[in-house]
Amino acid sequence: MKLKDALKDDLSEEELHLLIRAYDVVGDIAIIIIPPELQSKEKLIGDTILRLHKNIKVVAKRAGNYEGEFRTIQLTIIAGEDRKETEYREHGVRFFLNPEKVYFSVRSSNERKRLAALVKPGEEVLIMFSGIGSFPLVLAKNSPAREIIGIEKSQIAHDYALRNLTSNRKINNVTLLAGDVADLLPDLNRKFDRVAMPLPKTAEMYLDIALHSLKHRASLHFYDFQQTNLFDNSIKKVNTACKRNNRTLIQAETHICGHSGPRTYRICVDACIS
Ligand SMILES: C[S@@+](CC[C@H](N)C(=O)[O-])C[C@H]1O[C@@H](n2cnc3c(N)ncnc32)[C@H](O)[C@@H]1O
Repeated sequence: MKLKDALKDDLSEEELHLLIRAYDVVGDIAIIIIPPELQSKEKLIGDTILRLHKNIKVVAKRAGNYEGEFRTIQLTIIAGEDRKETEYREHGVRFFLNPEKVYFSVRSSNERKRLAALVKPGEEVLIMFSGIGSFPLVLAKNSPAREIIGIEKSQIAHDYALRNLTSNRKINNVTLLAGDVADLLPDLNRKFDRVAMPLPKTAEMYLDIALHSLKHRASLHFYDFQQTNLFDNSIKKVNTACKRNNRTLIQAETHICGHSGPRTYRICVDACIS
């Protein structure tokens, strides 16, 4: 039964109209947006979600949006158990995380699988902004990469990433580094076949160091927020950085990875750079 149907005797027509139908489920935690007008009914809404889905043990409401350098979001528990840590499985990988303390989006699950499918045998891959290790571990499990390095600045996210790496014992080609990519990458002095930049809000700032880390004729995945019909502007950002760094953009195409507000998308520029 759908949430709106289950609540039709308890909420007015107007309240049902305000109720946001979709909510994310991370492990056994449901994360929902409660409009201010429905605040007095949040416990009822949370309990109804628990009743409808026996696999959900915690219902939390989002307060605001992803914020700050570490892209975290405040959560308030409205029903169920009093905890925010959960275990989540994706594409054969087991993750532990607290969705309030670290950035994580189940909505990027398809994107992680899409990138894994692009990796060719023997590739050395760099994931900038690796969070709890979601991209490195999904790629390690689902691609023929030789080596994957992830770099993450948030110590909490990095600690979860290390825990997630040890929880997936068969994965043995991932190295996770804690720190700012701007500090660590120059010292690493490595070149990669593929570099992914999953930080759409500010990835542009790091294009120069990403290009310095790319081998000749290598792949770059540059994430950006972009409005409908303006996707070429994101390709231009990559092209401008290439020119600045004496590199050549051989080929580029854009993929929609998700929504980010009205007429705005989270997109990925898949680029081949020599
Ligand atoms: C949008 S999240 C993506 C996390 C992860 N790739 C995922 O999709 O689950 C961006 C991540 O970049 C990290 N971050 C932000 N600035 C950074 C920097 N300069 N160096 C390394 N990591 C950074 C944040 O802490 C956050 O975990």
